[in-house]
Amino acid sequence: MIKVSALLTFLLIFVTASQAQQPTPLITNIDGRHTIDLNGRWQIIIDPYETGYYDYRYQPSTDGYFKNAKPKSPSDLIEYDFDTSQQLNVPGDWNSQDQKLLFYEGTIWYKKSFDYQKKDRTRLFAYFGAANYLADVYLNGQKLGRHEGGFTPFNFEITKLVREKDNFLVVKVDNKRRRDAVPTLNTDWWNYGGLTRDVNLVEVPDAFIEDYFLQLKKGSTDEISGWVKLNGATLGKAINVEIPEANVKHSAAIDANGYAPITFKARLDLWSPENPKLYAVKISTDSDSVADRIGFRKLDTRGTDILLNGKPIFLRGICIHEESPLRGGRAFSEDDARMLLTWAKELGSNFVRLAHYPHNEHMTRLADEMGIMVWSEIPVYWTVLWDNPETFENARNQLEESITRDKNKASVILWSVANETPVSEARIKFLKGLIDHARKMDPTRLLTAANERHYADPNTQVIDDPLGEYLDVLGCNEYVGWYDGLPEKADRLTWKVAQNKPLIISEFGGDALFGNHGDKGVRWTEEYQKNLYEHQLVMLKKIPSLRGMTPWILTDFRSPRRPLPRIQDFYNRKGLISSRGERKQAFYVLQNFYRSLIKEGK
Ligand code: GCU
Repeated sequence: MIKVSALLTFLLIFVTASQAQQPTPLITNIDGRHTIDLNGRWQIIIDPYETGYYDYRYQPSTDGYFKNAKPKSPSDLIEYDFDTSQQLNVPGDWNSQDQKLLFYEGTIWYKKSFDYQKKDRTRLFAYFGAANYLADVYLNGQKLGRHEGGFTPFNFEITKLVREKDNFLVVKVDNKRRRDAVPTLNTDWWNYGGLTRDVNLVEVPDAFIEDYFLQLKKGSTDEISGWVKLNGATLGKAINVEIPEANVKHSAAIDANGYAPITFKARLDLWSPENPKLYAVKISTDSDSVADRIGFRKLDTRGTDILLNGKPIFLRGICIHEESPLRGGRAFSEDDARMLLTWAKELGSNFVRLAHYPHNEHMTRLADEMGIMVWSEIPVYWTVLWDNPETFENARNQLEESITRDKNKASVILWSVANETPVSEARIKFLKGLIDHARKMDPTRLLTAANERHYADPNTQVIDDPLGEYLDVLGCNEYVGWYDGLPEKADRLTWKVAQNKPLIISEFGGDALFGNHGDKGVRWTEEYQKNLYEHQLVMLKKIPSLRGMTPWILTDFRSPRRPLPRIQDFYNRKGLISSRGERKQAFYVLQNFYRSLIKEGK
């Protein structure tokens, strides 16, 4: 007969586990709402064996570190104590904050205590900009839920659980890599762990504006189309959309699902790199209002052209990893974003590929302001488990959270669903599923992916990935002159592109250690990298359908796959700028090339 205590324990675990619900629907634009930031010093417990989560039978414990327990008497046995434990900065990865954690992959528990002044008819959410990779979140010992994916925001409602005094928010962050995860086991970037972006409390009224989508209708330059979603409101409640500068005052009523469809005409100054016009937009109801700054632009393709506001454009780009060059570690602040985007502008870029995952929201907000177009990507990188439904669901969820966060950003022009993924039926099915989901959520932007190419013969490169059929813009990574022959090989290559669509060469480049000089045939020297760029740019200019490029990469970045002593030292050195901010010779080759394109009006 099952002992009562065992049954109770089982029921408790089952109830708690089943209650560990997914994050609540994502709230858009928390910058436009009333927030209390929980950034700063958090107490941590490093827990490689997950002792704070599992009991010695490796069963989830009901008495884990999330309880933040304190001995009630001198004889009480408590084997952890957040308040006398080490502290780390949030936002921030743990790897670059403490040398002993540089290579650490596992669990670290974070705890933040706070008081909160409760308010009538006010709901409260805990909002995380991101946590890499798997986050279990608790408030005052209660499980709020779990979030998977290291680069997208999530929030939990805590209205009922929060109290006036001594709240403790505990997050178990686990960055262990898994074969079925997204990304999977193998990447060429540092697996920075932790609460890597801002943590905020978000206050909203009982009935609040949860989400909205306001962009120009596909193909139009004067009709705004979208929707507003209310949370906790009743049928027929009115919402207002105001754009004072465009004399817009529009009202609509919500339907039974809390949505109010929005369509209205407006005379607008369209957003572009030359004129990054953002309009102050106010969305309100009788109980809530949200302010935003939104740009409106028209985006299309026509044959092999990408059209912005009806005009063909050339995307003078550069790839960027979300790493703070000078400080090291994950970039997370507005200053980090401004530094990276300013360097990209210095190159002559009007476009950046934010590789290989959604970067923090400071990047896309600043890109809106600075007039830089953005390729936004989810980390379906190399060889994920294409046949695994959970893996697909995870990727689809990361895509959904990324689109939810950035769908009102004029700068974001491309959603990328994959990088260098091997051609197979299962992969096509997986990626087509993502593409369809993105189109359903956002009919206004272009879909792409960074695909591979192959040789038809020693002098002919072919881009004919079957995935191209489902994309608006083709992306292709090539490393002629680095992994594929020497730089001069580019001189004799021609390119065949199967689909009549715009092409972006989404990666090319080679490693150079800043200050390492020698003959141009010597690898790892600046002269080699310079020579490689010179041959590449001549070759690429000859590709008829080329409408953009994003060389790999703006700055050197950390990678666990790059151990070569005194050259790499766990850095990928393909940056045009070193990890100390020094410009390499190739930086000026690309800068001159972009300046010549600008002169040509491209
Ligand atoms: C790949 C990949 C990058 C990687 C780069 C390199 O193409 O997409 O993530 O860093 O090549 O090898 O340097």
